[in-house]
Amino acid sequence: MHVSTTTSHPLNDPLVITTMAKSYSQYVCQECGRTSPRQMGRCPKCSAWNSMVEEIIEKTTSAAKHARPSMGERSTPKRLSEISGDVEDRIPVPIEEFSRVLGGGIVPGSVVLIGGDPGIGKSTLLLQTTLEMASQGTVLYISGEESDRQIKMRAMRLLSPPSEEKKADLPDDLFLVTETNLDVIMEHIEETKPQLIVVDSIQTTYMPQIESSAGSVTQVRETASRLRELAKASGLTVFLIGHVTKEGTIAGPRVLEHIVDAVLYLEGDRFQVYRLLRTVKNRYGATSEVGVFEMRDRGLIEVSNPSEAFLAERMVNAPGSAIAVTMEGTRPLLVEIQGLTSHTSFGNPRRTPNGIDFNRLLLTVAVLSRRVGVRLAEQDVFVNVISGLKISEPAADLAVATAIASSVKDAPVRADTVLIGEVGLSGELRMVGQMESRLREAAKLGFKTAIVPRRLGKGQKWPKGIEVVEVRSLREALKKALVEEQ
Ligand code: TYD
Ligand code: MG
Repeated sequence: MHVSTTTSHPLNDPLVITTMAKSYSQYVCQECGRTSPRQMGRCPKCSAWNSMVEEIIEKTTSAAKHARPSMGERSTPKRLSEISGDVEDRIPVPIEEFSRVLGGGIVPGSVVLIGGDPGIGKSTLLLQTTLEMASQGTVLYISGEESDRQIKMRAMRLLSPPSEEKKADLPDDLFLVTETNLDVIMEHIEETKPQLIVVDSIQTTYMPQIESSAGSVTQVRETASRLRELAKASGLTVFLIGHVTKEGTIAGPRVLEHIVDAVLYLEGDRFQVYRLLRTVKNRYGATSEVGVFEMRDRGLIEVSNPSEAFLAERMVNAPGSAIAVTMEGTRPLLVEIQGLTSHTSFGNPRRTPNGIDFNRLLLTVAVLSRRVGVRLAEQDVFVNVISGLKISEPAADLAVATAIASSVKDAPVRADTVLIGEVGLSGELRMVGQMESRLREAAKLGFKTAIVPRRLGKGQKWPKGIEVVEVRSLREALKKALVEEQ
């Protein structure tokens, strides 16, 4: 734990003396933003170890925060019907998948945070978007991470047609500046008068009035708040890029979630081509929407039929492969789940999931061995979700269990079969939500059979075009799903 000694006493700081502002220090958890007057080894709120870092807070900034908003005159209550602004005044985004995730375009004056691991493609996505949107108005791209030249080179690459015959057209309305000082950024905004700005990234941007280093919770929160005030007052749209880091030394976008209007996360496996853009919060649209992209050498390409793409490299009739249908927001996605078991060479057997939760895998393995009698005590078990997707819903349990059983028994899953259902602790299968749209998507992609939990009521009919096999237990499901040699 480091405590900065030079700034620990407010009077040591010339800025504090000249402005006569009173400042004090506090400890801020870099994970969750919890503050404490004392140093603590472990955050009492989020239980993170060594995450409390000393930050110097200037009284004036924190007092100004509570003062009446200074940007307009005194506020007056208005009738809802008198307030201008229609539902439909959104700026269209030319990238369809992005637009849908935003809820159908950009709301002017909104602040959108794009979070994600470093190197996942956040800068690429926003540069591509702004290149396409610049014709609709002035755009200012503020980068604190790369040089102008690097960004220009990337822009050329994203724009240039594959033939290289004609030179790529760079839009005149896209301005670029490499700057991290928020005061200077504000001046640039004043001069260029953009309709949209991108701040890449919020962790490199700082307010010189605040003592703590760029990327700390205080800096990140204050810079974002100031940009939000500007956005609300002027109708400027702000995109903030924020890195998510596991170590927590740099303030993650978590602390920003309540400041901004929408939070999108760009996810995916860095070593695979697919990227998912997921809504976590959206004041102007549905959450849990997902956009799917492929990272290519010319930037992110939209994938309009992700299920088809995810299944493209599948080997039919290979043991250890099962198809699950998972819901990403309102969208059903078919993904291949692979299971591999191999004899444990020494010590404890290993359970290694990629794309599903570790505890969920342990549970599935336990149910398979205790309730179905699949012998796994001396087997290492690996499970992989193809495509880099992370599945958190239990509806994929049945496919995971089947993939593992298929590998142990060396028996492939019946061709053209999808498996949908949650596995309970007694080895029973449980119904999952949105079964109809899952089945319809499977049928659309040419699957012939779906193995699903048995319904209790016989209310509605299953969708046409796919044979639905209802089973009660995991044991029964495996009997129907696996092609075993007699
Ligand atoms: P970047 O947008 O810089 O990531 P972030 O801003 O989230 O840190 O993307 C970096 C990765 O994307 C880098 O590893 C290279 C890859 N990439 C492509 O594969 N194709 C491209 O056209 C571009 C621009 C980047
Ligand atoms: Mg970047």
